Amino acid sequence: MKLSSRITGMVGAEGDGWDLFFKARAMVDAGEPVVELTIGEHDIRTDPSILAAMDRAARGGHTGYAMMAGTDELRDAVAARVQARTGVETTRANVLITPGGQSALFAAHHAVCDEGDRALFIDPYYATYPGTIRGVGARPVAVAAHAEDAFQPRAADLAAAAPGAKSLLVNTPNNPTGAVYSRATLDGIAQVCLDHDLWLISDEVYDTQVWDGAHVSPRALPGMADRTLVVGSMSKSHAMTGSRIGWLVGPAPAIRYLANLAIHTTYGVPGFIQDAALFALNEGAGLEREIAAPFARRRAIALDVLGRQNAIRALPPQGAMYMMLDIRATGLSGIEFAEKLLDTHKIAVMPGESFGRAPAGHIRVALTVEDARFAEAFQTLVDMAGDLAR
Ligand SMILES: Cc1ncc(COP(=O)(O)O)c(C=O)c1O
Repeated sequence: MKLSSRITGMVGAEGDGWDLFFKARAMVDAGEPVVELTIGEHDIRTDPSILAAMDRAARGGHTGYAMMAGTDELRDAVAARVQARTGVETTRANVLITPGGQSALFAAHHAVCDEGDRALFIDPYYATYPGTIRGVGARPVAVAAHAEDAFQPRAADLAAAAPGAKSLLVNTPNNPTGAVYSRATLDGIAQVCLDHDLWLISDEVYDTQVWDGAHVSPRALPGMADRTLVVGSMSKSHAMTGSRIGWLVGPAPAIRYLANLAIHTTYGVPGFIQDAALFALNEGAGLEREIAAPFARRRAIALDVLGRQNAIRALPPQGAMYMMLDIRATGLSGIEFAEKLLDTHKIAVMPGESFGRAPAGHIRVALTVEDARFAEAFQTLVDMAGDLAR
């Protein structure tokens, strides 16, 4: 039987970039001691206090259907958090609770794109972006951000791609590059959206991981609150990747329609997960800082090692849990370098090519293993690059 072209065509050629990740996973499953610096998953688990809140909620009976747009309490807590961080007035009417940021990305594009619409996103990109856009029947259009610009997109490039497009998806702090978009970059993005009547979908799932500079939510820029949908998540901020809980924040009329989408797709997020998320948010910024701290430490370890070599070029990541390393001096592509590192040293990193065309000749290193093991693996990686570049 024939399946829809929407589902069979959802993942395009970009899917190939994950071969290395699957190869590393197979090696781990076969008992090989691989150091996995691939995906954005913490090396700690969800805090026991959050799990206790989840347990209390479930045993207290919150195991039936929950409100589809989210519980009032959690929507209020997300609204308060967003308002406190951005200064933009935000109420529960602006908030839809979703099963994770990924679901919010899908819902946001579903809400603003019709069949065949052009939806812009920035290359390098988080791996699911093109498939998410195709999945709602829209056409993904990549706009390159360049290594020489520290992967900050240029407003002129966005403006050139914007005519006729419906939406622009941006991500700051950025996966995979570690860039935190400057105020000037965000002003340029906002102007393009205003000039070309675009929806802005702003993926801010790494907003608690900023090492340098400050995170500015573009929803807070003049004229943007009515055309911006912000994607948030508890995955990275609270090490709750497996709980599948996040949100969309946007104009109240859009959120009302998005609640209809939730009713017809997920039927909401489990109540006990929402209660656990509420508990976690009420713990405040202290817990968020604690969860982010290991990445800052490993970033410092990596920068120290990089400071003593010259085969690899890298910009210090300003945010998120990754480093993008330019390994072009080795003469290898990102894929070749990552393959060699895995085969020779059992260290798994992601080839830059997995994240678009712009980061070719780069590798992405996730700062996601314990410090001493990370330091050893990172030194090995840098030594291999040094030998190749010689
Ligand atoms: C940039 C970005 N957006 C969204 C997500 C989705 O996260 P989740 O669905 O776990 O909230 C991720 C996960 O790695 C990501 O890196």
